[in-house]
Amino acid sequence: MSQSHHDPSDESGGTNRLKMAIAVTVGAFALIIGVFMLAYFAVGSHTVGKSVDSANTPEAIAKRIAPVSTLEVDESKKPAPALIPVAATSKSVAPIVAVAIPAAAVAGAPSAAGGEGVYKNACVACHGAGIAGAPKSGDKAAWSARIAQGKAMLYDHAIRGYQGKAGVMPAKGGNAALADADVKSAVDYMVSLAK
Ligand code: HEC
Repeated sequence: MSQSHHDPSDESGGTNRLKMAIAVTVGAFALIIGVFMLAYFAVGSHTVGKSVDSANTPEAIAKRIAPVSTLEVDESKKPAPALIPVAATSKSVAPIVAVAIPAAAVAGAPSAAGGEGVYKNACVACHGAGIAGAPKSGDKAAWSARIAQGKAMLYDHAIRGYQGKAGVMPAKGGNAALADADVKSAVDYMVSLAK
């Protein structure tokens, strides 16, 4: 059985063997060339190692991964933005400093704010609009009889407080830490408004 298969090839064995020999030779050459090429590439990556290294310098890498374009702003033409918030905050800080002045007045020392300043901090809440029976500032009718009592009485009532017919005037307007001198200057200011 196997012989019947081999027989035809044996008959043309001459050409078949030649073909086979050529194929083996070509294959061997192809293999050798392939091995040489592999070797060439393998060795080549080492021999070009220097150029590969120069391509991996930080400068070369930075150049390769650099963005397509960069925006460069001329600092000299920029409108210094840092100064704007500073100016804004200095404005917003100002009221806090203004509030700090009455805080010093609360400590008992005569206030630098003067009669008007003390009045605006400690007295205007009631006397500004005439709340709770307080004689309204600048209301001459409400003040004329009180002024007629004399400043000594007004000072005393303002500093120590008193219960009147219209309501209760709390001592120092409820701000016990106020210096007597400040309450007096506030009274002077209120009296001047009613004149
Ligand atoms: C809580 C409200 C209130 C505050 C704050 C207040 N007063 Fe008065 N004050 C009154 C009332 C009410 C009267 C009127 C009382 C009455 O005569 O019945 C009055 C009356 C007065 C009088 C008139 C006294 C008199 O003899 O007629 C003077 C002066 C006065 N206050 C000064 C001041 C001063 C200065 C301050 C701030 C330091 C101040 N008051 C803060 C409520 C207030």
